[in-house]
Amino acid sequence: MYYVDFREEESYNAIVLYAKRCIMDNLLQIRENERLSHVETYNSNGLFEEGSWLHKPVKTVTDLLPYFRGKKNLRILDLGCGVGRNCIAFAKEYKSTGCTVDCVDLLSIAIEKLNRNAATHGVTQCINGIVKAIEDYEIEENRYDLIMSVSALEHIDSEESFKDKLAQISAGIRNGGIVCLVINSEVTEKDKATGEPMTAQFEVNMASEELQRLLKETFSGWRIVKETLRKQQYDIPRGEKTADLTTNVVTFVAVKDEAERCPYCGGEMKNGFVCTTVKSAVFWAEEKTSFFKGPAVLEGAEVLAKSTNPLNYVKGSNLPAAKCENCGRIILENMQEK
Ligand SMILES: C[S@@+](CC[C@H](N)C(=O)[O-])C[C@H]1O[C@@H](n2cnc3c(N)ncnc32)[C@H](O)[C@@H]1O
Repeated sequence: MYYVDFREEESYNAIVLYAKRCIMDNLLQIRENERLSHVETYNSNGLFEEGSWLHKPVKTVTDLLPYFRGKKNLRILDLGCGVGRNCIAFAKEYKSTGCTVDCVDLLSIAIEKLNRNAATHGVTQCINGIVKAIEDYEIEENRYDLIMSVSALEHIDSEESFKDKLAQISAGIRNGGIVCLVINSEVTEKDKATGEPMTAQFEVNMASEELQRLLKETFSGWRIVKETLRKQQYDIPRGEKTADLTTNVVTFVAVKDEAERCPYCGGEMKNGFVCTTVKSAVFWAEEKTSFFKGPAVLEGAEVLAKSTNPLNYVKGSNLPAAKCENCGRIILENMQEK
């Protein structure tokens, strides 16, 4: 038997180097297997055609389609976009009001096919294909209305990069924007013919509970719209073999509803209405109200407008406004002329 004395620096360094090499070899092996299985799928199946998982966008994504109606110049990021199954659906919905989707995928064949599919569906102007690993794509802060990633984040090169990327996603979404993630967890693979266990070809393979806890923690304070855990089983080609794969699919959709801050004192702003009668009588209410049923007159409250025009109230109107919970100042969104 061979013993390593960890007190000897040389032995220690050799072991660390060996461990790093094993991790690297494993990563390269997984990447190669993933590449082969995706190239096979993308070459043999057309987008939105029956016969493979490419036949339609995922429901979690299509459910979000109406969310941004009326919003102009939407900015979307699709991480691990493949050939455009989900992002093309969004581009089609919003191309008339201006929409840009940054689409990131490791495989150049995916981006080539994405560009062709974008042309077929008349959304070339909306699609910006980027051949890059997700872990290497720096997400700019406050840039996107929607960041989605379907069955791709679990292929980031390490758990550490995965956590960093989640933090970048959180910072990259604007207030009112959405994060939409579908991530495999607790994946197992076994040889379909012999039942022998195989190494799951997923770089990040977290326990489902831990992943759900991490998502909640990263997006804490956001309004969770959907959070599900679904068991799935399917066959997947692995070289000469077919693997029987089981997974717990974690779906997480949340809206960044950060409270607006008072520009004067930094306090939290609460939305409501300024109900007006004449210039000197102003009421504050959280719901639209009328003069007669209204709450108490605001005593000494300072009402400020975002514009520099003098305040001119329309008699009896309910003007959308926000009130600072700390200093009591009321800020009107829009001015109305008498
Ligand atoms: C299962 S497919 C899903 C594609 C697409 N999101 C969809 O739902 O149709 C995963 C995609 O992620 C890409 N991918 C895997 N690892 C990646 C990484 N580290 N960086 C960028 N893309 C990656 C693959 O090339 C593949 O196109």
